[in-house]
Amino acid sequence: MGRAALKLHSASSQIAYWEAGQLWIVNFLTRRTFATDPVTFELLRYFCLPRTIASAIPAFKTYSPESVTAAILQLIDAQLLLEHGSPEWRRDQFLASSWKPWLPEGGFHFVTKDTPFIPESWPIEEKMKVLPATPAPRQFKTARGARVVRLPAARAERDSFFETVHARRTHRQFAKGKMSLEDIATLLQTTWGVQGYFETNVFGKLPFKTSPSGGARHPGEVYLMALRVAGLAPGMYHYQAKDHRLARLPTKVSPRRASAYCADQLYFAGASALFIMTAVFARTMWKYGRGRAYRVVLLETGHFCQTFCLTATRLGLAPFSTAALKDTLIEKDLGIDGISESVLYVAGVGLAVRPYEPALAGSVGQVAPQPR
Ligand SMILES: Cc1cc2nc3c(=O)[nH]c(=O)nc-3n(C[C@H](O)[C@H](O)[C@H](O)COP(=O)(O)O)c2cc1C
Repeated sequence: MGRAALKLHSASSQIAYWEAGQLWIVNFLTRRTFATDPVTFELLRYFCLPRTIASAIPAFKTYSPESVTAAILQLIDAQLLLEHGSPEWRRDQFLASSWKPWLPEGGFHFVTKDTPFIPESWPIEEKMKVLPATPAPRQFKTARGARVVRLPAARAERDSFFETVHARRTHRQFAKGKMSLEDIATLLQTTWGVQGYFETNVFGKLPFKTSPSGGARHPGEVYLMALRVAGLAPGMYHYQAKDHRLARLPTKVSPRRASAYCADQLYFAGASALFIMTAVFARTMWKYGRGRAYRVVLLETGHFCQTFCLTATRLGLAPFSTAALKDTLIEKDLGIDGISESVLYVAGVGLAVRPYEPALAGSVGQVAPQPR
């Protein structure tokens, strides 16, 4: 079939915005951004129904057939026009239908995936150049003109809860050896396990966990990348929260792969295990049909991570967390589509090195400037 007869469809995953007098269009699924002009929108609107190039030429008769064809071909190259029925079109449609209640706001989730990170190998001077030339903002706020009330000193509690809360640190160095499967089980059950159920009038039986969840929808899932665990074969596992079991996935694992997942942060290759947090968005979306609920899903991973870090600390282990992730690589390895279920956050744990040495934090996770 010639190009003129191809059925084309505008990508649904598009957002346009103005910046410094220039109109930009971004496809948040492909994460490609293009300078454009208002005329382009006429073409994109025309192809909101599946149509052919041949039919577009008479519809835009104020322009020459050559210029209409050239503009359409450019839009095809840019994946702003998709071939009706192609895999790219199907993925675009899948996003549009499964995220419908949270679009366009939810485009933020997709456009911020797979952000490039500065390689660890860059010299520190090069890394520093990425920072703004202006000084860092003040670390603390003082409300001007407000009356100040002195507080009593916090009680010097000596029970294990307060000791644990105060002892939590991000670890980036790990001792050699294997952690126990019992500790893995404790981390999983305490952080992600179902602690019980409660009956509701409208929504039936709902689970509760140690972390709160908006509407008790519990969109979170967790996958265990076991690297150095005594009594558990290295591998990728899905945690079945309902019955506290691990289901082994066919994915191959290695310390190098663990580091790759965390945007090539080499120190995390020394970890015993990664805990890869994802969300099944529909669980929350089903009840909360406004884009704001996307925030709820993100907030919940923060709850999990803190519980995880505190539990690991209490167990004498060395926890860490990172949001610098290679999303698509992880999602492929987990066998999830990255649309209905997507990776959000990774926590990990290793054997502690004593005494704890804080490493220079955040030198790697800086985001490189975005090329357009
Ligand atoms: C959302 C989030 C993302 C983070 N990402 C990274 C990361 O990519 N690499 C890293 O080494 N630490 C990361 N950290 C850890 C912080 O650097 C660390 O919390 C901070 O330096 C304070 O140290 P502390 O956790 O020991 O109190 C992250 C922390 C949070 C909350």
